[in-house]
Amino acid sequence: MYSTSKESHYTRKLGRKDVVVGLQWGDEGKGKLIDWLSKNQRYDVVARFNGGANAGHTVVVGDQTYKLRLLPSGIVSGKHAFLGSGMVLDLEQLNEEIKPFDKSATISFGKNAHIVLPIYKQMDSEKNAHIGTTKNGIGIAYELKANRSGIRLQDIWSNDLNSKLERLNSTLLERGYELNTTKVRQYLESYGLWMRPHTFEDSPFLKDKVQNGGNILIEGAQGLMLSLDWGTYPYVTSSDMSAPSAYASLGLTKSDSDQVFGVTKAYITRVGGGILPTELHLSNKYSDLTSDTVSAIDLLTLDPSDETTALKLVKDGKEFGTVTKRLRRVGWLDLPQLKYAIKLNDVSGVAITKVDVLSGLDEVSLATKYKFNDGSEYMGDDTKGYPSVSKFEDGFNLEYKTFSGWDDISSDWDKTKTYLDFIQDYIGIPIVLVSYGPKRSQTMTFPEGI
Ligand code: IMP
Repeated sequence: MYSTSKESHYTRKLGRKDVVVGLQWGDEGKGKLIDWLSKNQRYDVVARFNGGANAGHTVVVGDQTYKLRLLPSGIVSGKHAFLGSGMVLDLEQLNEEIKPFDKSATISFGKNAHIVLPIYKQMDSEKNAHIGTTKNGIGIAYELKANRSGIRLQDIWSNDLNSKLERLNSTLLERGYELNTTKVRQYLESYGLWMRPHTFEDSPFLKDKVQNGGNILIEGAQGLMLSLDWGTYPYVTSSDMSAPSAYASLGLTKSDSDQVFGVTKAYITRVGGGILPTELHLSNKYSDLTSDTVSAIDLLTLDPSDETTALKLVKDGKEFGTVTKRLRRVGWLDLPQLKYAIKLNDVSGVAITKVDVLSGLDEVSLATKYKFNDGSEYMGDDTKGYPSVSKFEDGFNLEYKTFSGWDDISSDWDKTKTYLDFIQDYIGIPIVLVSYGPKRSQTMTFPEGI
């Protein structure tokens, strides 16, 4: 409970509220950093604040593999999970995902989270195909939220659920869709009624933990460039995953002792449409590439080219969507973009993942400047923000820096370090973690930077 005594309020040690955000277009491998942070800092609660089942990550602990789309990954190490009101919840998916966990003890929800009804997925596939969404109804749920006709978690047990469903139905009818409100009510009750005793208002629930010395780790889904507000609109998701938004969505404010950590891959990937300035293009003959077909390709038989490098990144990085299995577009690390994301999020420490995927390349490049057609430069720290263009090539040229490659990170550490040092100097923020494989042991940490 909140303390009313001034003395105990000022002498009590408050808990921390740290945030982990993705700095690219999602899929950066945030789990590694979360795992390391959780080992060094006792977190009592892990919270998610945005998005829904469009996110996807695999967490391996010992023999057990967890596929998580809604739950924050810290739940697998026994932390209390909180799914905030800024999320949109697919109840069927949630019920499936929580099976391995003791739901009554370990999971709580923000009461204003919106529900993704099954019909939203159909609408998403039909209406948002041009964006290349994950077809999980995410955009539809956020749209109906803004339209004030969405169904929230707390509505499931409210007296006026029927009238809310009727209102939603009239909105959907205007768009050519119809709800069977009786069936939807049954659906909501069968998948959602159990959640009632675990549902709270975000801000007081989390502040209470912090007041009592509990630490909170807030896990962002996706990456900044997919942010509705700060990303490459309209090719973005429908929520904001920036660190400022993480605090705001949960009804919290950042204090000086709270830290924001950002995660980037050592290269770049993106699924769906929109610009990807440093993309290494694959020709049409690879448009149906799957994880099986790419693993059968012998890269040594191919001539060196950007396309061969792209194939290597896809193959060694297993660059297929966790949720949709779609082939991810790949490219070189983009430092102006990374700096933009770091500055916007006020990141104080960076984790760089999948460095091993670059091993074996003769040369490794990264973009250091965007050059506008008039010759002026953008370095990621322009007060005008990230360039807003629908076709990057029309407005910009890129400047790259190339490094000699390495065969093996440990035996060729000097070469790898030259690459990483350059990145650290450019971004001006310590690289605190380098990950070079999926295993926990394939991680180097540098609490003060490399
Ligand atoms: P939506 O979030 O399903 O509406 O999709 C909007 C855009 O965000 C599409 O380009 C998706 O591919 C992308 N997206 C959404 N979630 C993720 C994610 O977790 N990783 C990578 N891309 C994502």
